[in-house]
This record gives sequence, structure tokens and C-alpha cells, in this order.
Amino acid sequence: MGNVVHGQETAELKLDGKVYQLPVIVGSEGEKAIDIRELRSSSGYITLDSGFMNTGSCCSSITFLDGEEGILSYRGYGIEDLAENCTFVEVAYLLDHGNLPTREELSKFSQMLGKYAMVHEDMIRFFDGYPPNSPPMAILSSMVNSLCSFYPEMLDNPLENIDKMAARLLSKVRTIAAFSYKKSMGQPLVYPRHDLSYCANFLNMMFDSPVKPYEINDTVVKALNKLLILHGDHEQNCSTATVRVAGSARVNLYASISAGINALWGPLHGGANQAVMEMLTQIHEEGGNYKQFIAKAKDPADPFRLVGFGHRVYKTHDPRARIIKKACDDVLTALNISDPLLDIAKELEEVALKDEYFIARNLYPNVDFYSGIIYRAIGIPTNMFTVMFALGRLPGWIAHWKEMWDDPDWRISRPRQVYVGPKRRPFVPLAERTGNE
Ligand code: CMC
Repeated sequence: MGNVVHGQETAELKLDGKVYQLPVIVGSEGEKAIDIRELRSSSGYITLDSGFMNTGSCCSSITFLDGEEGILSYRGYGIEDLAENCTFVEVAYLLDHGNLPTREELSKFSQMLGKYAMVHEDMIRFFDGYPPNSPPMAILSSMVNSLCSFYPEMLDNPLENIDKMAARLLSKVRTIAAFSYKKSMGQPLVYPRHDLSYCANFLNMMFDSPVKPYEINDTVVKALNKLLILHGDHEQNCSTATVRVAGSARVNLYASISAGINALWGPLHGGANQAVMEMLTQIHEEGGNYKQFIAKAKDPADPFRLVGFGHRVYKTHDPRARIIKKACDDVLTALNISDPLLDIAKELEEVALKDEYFIARNLYPNVDFYSGIIYRAIGIPTNMFTVMFALGRLPGWIAHWKEMWDDPDWRISRPRQVYVGPKRRPFVPLAERTGNE
């Protein structure tokens, strides 16, 4: 834990009549942690924390998040400022390099993104092997994993090559995402163009066709930049933790990111943006009666949850959801679109925020609640929503992998457990087993 500050305080723990002094660590925004790394060797005890509700797995200088106050910043910059003033490429640079780029750095980085945008022609044939309607997240994770077969030279001295590897991933994942959509539509692939910005290039690869050239619209490009920025990083969320855990075994960046993509796919994590849209569509098709969905969400006997609500860390408004909600209004107005799903989402939010069940549990709309409405407005199909999340989260995953790899306190991630199975018992040979052992 390289830059850790040990506070003046120590925590005292009494166990079996002995007192243990545990160091207290203080982060740069004043958050405190009890360092228990020596606890087991000194006391024989471990800590138990299912779901890591209260466990810090590392010290990180990438993202700060205060879930009680609804604060989020990347490398010290407020998410509101970044979303308002930057492009996604600038924010990707910030996350992966630690500082916002100068004009010159940005131009060099953008050139690298342009240079690496193609995927190997042999990889393009992989797409033909997937049956129609394959989940795009399955395609994405396996294609990203396959990159290490095509670019193995990056695997030696990964930190020396990290800038190239990061640019290659950021650029190629965008191409792979757009190609997987084109394949799913049975349309010819549209290759990346050097003259287009990151987001415009992606939109062009998605929507240009031989019969109808795609017209790049500034409102759509800006909206996409904003959405990707808002998804850029979110400290130790499930997929990022997965990238770190996989990478801690010293597996390469491509394989680690592929693992993260699979974790993101889950409906409780990145898959929620697709699930929200499906829920809102169902409410709409059933006549707009959202109250029964709220009743189902509150029923302890029903596993249904109001998707797009609640967060492990935020116990107040998710700052990203606030920005996206406003962007939703702006984008729909600019594109002259009226979407009944936006009205349903707003009503649902209003009712839920006044409901005792949601108030008592601090359940607010999260980043996934409104994002799908913008994606829909800019033409992204619902089954690509989680792929969009992956595209946005990619610089965050890369930054965490790099930080983990370079951490002087790095150890392979290997949690412990409390064993609750049978006590050791005598082995019974197959011929003598009765089934009652
Ligand atoms: N609808 C209804 N009840 C909920 C919801 C919800 N969306 N979320 C949490 N609760 C209830 C939950 O049933 C529990 O109630 P009780 O105390 O009576 O048992 C209480 O709130 C605490 O929930 P929890 O499951 O202990 O909280 P968690 O921190 O383990 O889970 C969560 C966080 C995001 C998985 C959960 O809120 C959820 O399932 N939300 C819906 C899925 C979703 O929108 N996911 C996207 C998360 S944000 C972006 C991302 O991570 O990708």
C-alpha cells in the first residue's frame, strides 16, 4: 500500500483476554480504515464480511466516492465538471495516466486510438461462428480474451507496453462492439475511420450503411461522450474488483478485462441498464400501471426488484443519475423525441422516492435508471446497452489493473473463509458405502 498514511490512532481489539492494537489508515479525503493484515498471524482470527460490505481490498488513487454525500471524482476532478467539459478520450487519458492531457498529449493519444482501431481480419471471421441472437456481452468478452493471441508481443513487460495496450484495447473494443452489432443485424461491417473522433467513429461504425450513409449529429456525439464519461470508473465495483482479482494472479490485461466484462454482464451490475429498459417497456405495454411493480418490489416474498434503484455504496442520490436525468431531457428535446418510457421513469422515481419502503432503505435511482433512455434516443438497441457500459468502464478497468500490477504491496487475491462443512471423518471405500456415512 504505497502512499498509505498511518494515522495517530490505533484500534484496540480484545480477544481471548488479550488486547491487539490495529493500525488505522487514513485516505486523502479523510476516510479511515483499520489495517487487519497482521490480525491472523498475531491472534489466529480472520474477519468475515460476505459481499465485502465493509472490506477495503486495496488503496487506490483513481476514484473517490462518498456514498453518504453523493460525491464522485476521478483523479480529484468532480464528475460534474468532467461530464460537462470533457470528451471521453480526455477522461480515459485522465483515468489511465493520472492527469488531464495537454493539447499535445491528447493529440498523440487520439492518434494512437486512430492507429489501433482495426481488428485483425482473422478475428473478424470469429463473428461468423456465433449463432444469431448471441448475447453481445458473450461475444465481447471472448473477443477481448482472444486479443492476446493476436497481440502477444504486449504480454512481456506489460507495464512498459501499458500505454500501447490501453490505446489498443480502448480502440479495438469500440470496433468489436460495433462489429458485433452489425453482424447481429446481418449488415456489412463498417470499418473505423481515421478522421472521426472516438464517439463519432463508433456511431458511424454502428449506423452507417451502403444504402444510407450515417449523418453525424453533434447532439448524439455529445450525449455518448457524456454517458461514457459517467461510466468511466466507480472504484471497487464488482467488475473492477474482478479485473483486479484476476490480474492479481499475474494474468494478462486482456484476460483480466475479459473477466471484468463477464462480471459486468450480471443484471445486478451493468446488466441493469438493459433490465431497466425491459421493465419500463413492460410497464408501458401493460398500460403504464407502475404501481404494481412498486408493490412487487416491496414484497419480501417476491424476488423482483425495481431495477435501476439502489446501490451498495450510495445512500443518497447517485450523482451520475442526476446528470443523466438532465441529459435525458436535453437530448430528447434536441432530437425532438418524445419517449413515453421517460415519462414512466420519472413517475416511477417520484412515487418511489416518497414511499416509506424506499426511504427507509435509502434506495435512489442509480446510473442505470435513465441511461437506457438516452441510448434508445440515439439509436443503440437494448441488447447493446451493457456493451456500452463496458466501453465506458474500460479505462477504469485498465487504470485499476495497472495500479494493481504496480502496487508495491501487491499480493495474489486470495480471501479466506470460515469452514462449516463436515468435520474430518474416516474414508469409506466404494464397496462399503451404505449412503449413511
Ligand atoms: N428494489 C427493491 N428493493 C431493493 C432494491 C430494489 N432495487 N435494492 C435494494 N432493495 C432492498 C433489499 O431487498 C433490502 O431490503 P431488506 O433490508 O428488507 O432485506 C435492502 O433494500 C438492502 O438491499 P441489499 O440487497 O442488501 O443491498 P446491496 O447493497 O447488497 O445491493 C444492489 C445493491 C444494487 C445490488 C441492489 O440495490 C439491487 O439489486 N438493485 C437493482 C439492480 C440494479 O439497479 N443494479 C445496478 C446497480 S448501479 C450500477 C452498477 O453497479 O452497475
